[in-house]
Amino acid sequence: MTAVLVTGANGYISQHIIQLLLQQNYTVVGTVRSVAKKEKYAALFSSCNLTIEVVPKLDTPHAFDFVFGKHRDITVVLHVATPVKSYAVNYDSEIISPAINGTTYLLESIRDVAPQVTRVVYTSSVAALAHPSVIYSTRGTFSERDWNQVTYEQSKESPRLAYYYAKRIAEQTAWEFANSRVNFSLSTVLPGGTFGPLVFDSDVADPMPSTSDYPIRLLKLRRDDPIPEFGAGFIDVRDLAQAHILVMESEAARGKRVVVEAEMVDNHIMLDIIRRNFPQFRDKLPECNPDSSQFIEPDIAQSRKILSGLEFTPISKTVVDAVTQVLRARESDD
Ligand SMILES: NC(=O)c1ccc[n+]([C@@H]2O[C@H](COP(=O)([O-])OP(=O)(O)OC[C@H]3O[C@@H](n4cnc5c(N)ncnc54)[C@H](OP(=O)(O)O)[C@@H]3O)[C@@H](O)[C@H]2O)c1
Repeated sequence: MTAVLVTGANGYISQHIIQLLLQQNYTVVGTVRSVAKKEKYAALFSSCNLTIEVVPKLDTPHAFDFVFGKHRDITVVLHVATPVKSYAVNYDSEIISPAINGTTYLLESIRDVAPQVTRVVYTSSVAALAHPSVIYSTRGTFSERDWNQVTYEQSKESPRLAYYYAKRIAEQTAWEFANSRVNFSLSTVLPGGTFGPLVFDSDVADPMPSTSDYPIRLLKLRRDDPIPEFGAGFIDVRDLAQAHILVMESEAARGKRVVVEAEMVDNHIMLDIIRRNFPQFRDKLPECNPDSSQFIEPDIAQSRKILSGLEFTPISKTVVDAVTQVLRARESDD
């Protein structure tokens, strides 16, 4: 019997990974930060193959030791938890330390008390590859070999730069660790902007969790509002969950960075999909011009090869499914 550990089990992406793992008959151990979250998600998933443990603080040495001590069958670790925040007061303690020290301490626990773990998949981000001015631009390019050059000094300027810095250093730390004497092989998954419905309608909120809010926040625009600038690579959250499982099962992915992006999208494209599919919003939302969109072309051939078994969901289905879920949840609240 083997089990898969998923950190941050209540998170937007982790929930989809856990749902898929359970559907594929894996035994799963998830970690969350509080007893309330443990009880809530144990009830929502309602599976005898899922155990949820409480690890209140990622950046505490040995925080995961008891989890591995209790679950000696864990052989695969998916480290997904990281603060994903657009607001923070202290970037060091709220963003940078949990990302970097949290990764180090988890890997130390695996090395010291869980030598049976043979695979670790760390959820990094395209943020680790390039500066936001490249990730969100229509010029330049990036590849799966790149690292952003955001310095610690620059990380003090905004939560976004703190996040970019934290994701790069955390991923580099994981690679350095994996290159020392350990029993596991590492793969990293680097998603683009992740959109799509939540696992549970009952989690629909305003704002929506994490980046699931990106398409949904467009519903609040008024006819004469300017369309906020946003353009970047995107992946449907359900495909991203599948990508994590493909990577953790793949021999070819051992020791590799795998960028997970389906296509480039912007707010014009997403607004156009909403206006065409939801007539109730057509006259309320601003006119958009999806044909004017221009994008960079990332060089991610190696990742595409590793993910060749994955059929990417188009942005149109992602947006329609996400908006439909929100409307359904709001209707059932009325
Ligand atoms: N969403 C995207 O577009 C995107 C793109 C690229 C990469 N990623 C990566 O994907 C991963 C998951 O992102 P997500 O979108 O699913 O975000 P999310 O919904 O905010 O989930 C983040 C998870 O990390 C946990 N967490 C945050 N800060 C923590 C801390 N200090 N100590 C312990 N746990 C903490 C959260 O717990 P609480 O709920 O208790 O705070 C939650 O379980 C992250 O590593 C992120 O960098 C996301």
